[in-house]
Amino acid sequence: MRKKIIAGNWKMNLKKEDAFTLVDNIVAGYQRLGLSENKIMLLAPSFVYLNFAQEKIENKEHLYIAAQDCSVHNSGAYTGEVSAMMLQSIGISYCIIGHSERRQYHNEDAEILYLKIKQAIANQIIPIFCCGEDLETRTQEQYFDFIKRQLETCIFKLEEEDFNKIIIAYEPIWAIGTGKTATVAQAEEMHAYIRKLIEEKYNKQIAHNTSILYGGSVNASNAKNLFLAQDIDGALVGGASLKYEDFVQIAEAL
Ligand code: PGA
Repeated sequence: MRKKIIAGNWKMNLKKEDAFTLVDNIVAGYQRLGLSENKIMLLAPSFVYLNFAQEKIENKEHLYIAAQDCSVHNSGAYTGEVSAMMLQSIGISYCIIGHSERRQYHNEDAEILYLKIKQAIANQIIPIFCCGEDLETRTQEQYFDFIKRQLETCIFKLEEEDFNKIIIAYEPIWAIGTGKTATVAQAEEMHAYIRKLIEEKYNKQIAHNTSILYGGSVNASNAKNLFLAQDIDGALVGGASLKYEDFVQIAEAL
């Protein structure tokens, strides 16, 4: 059975004391989250807080710390980079890869993202692979082809055994940080399409077992409806994940 996942992408936000308070609150309110084997929570703070956050959640089952990115390299003279090997060595087991902000501001293309995914998997880290079209692609009704290409040029190059470890996040760029969430119908249509593509490429069981998260202006009031859709297995939350009460309410809705 595929997992339901609520993930908070903190991006480049929060000073140390605020980041720590947020993790502390989530740990203190742990019971409210209703986590289990089939419903997990991921928190993705900046690299500088990963180790501390990891220590704070250590004995909380089904709650995990995720990185927001990793290097294409394992180690070496790559100033400023952080490798999947390092993440694994501090106990990190999830990593966001291919967020649209990385694609846009750091020119990360399918080839680079594929290498990052291979690095993550080689270090026992589960990649959360992000895909999503921009407004122009949506307006021109090219979004199905666009997403298909994003999958085909990257994660569909993985062997079945590795693809099994992937989480997908569909995040239409026009909905990220804009307050303009995709409608449930728009999101479900794309999630069902992605699942169909997985079935065609791999098989029905893998398609059934792959968690596909929605991201883009998810908040405490729209989460419940999104989660009713059968192919939406949770959310990758940006802005609302920085506010304890909002984030917990999203988790409760799942
Ligand atoms: P948002 O960001 O929830 O602030 O729209 C989502 C994301 O970028 O993952």
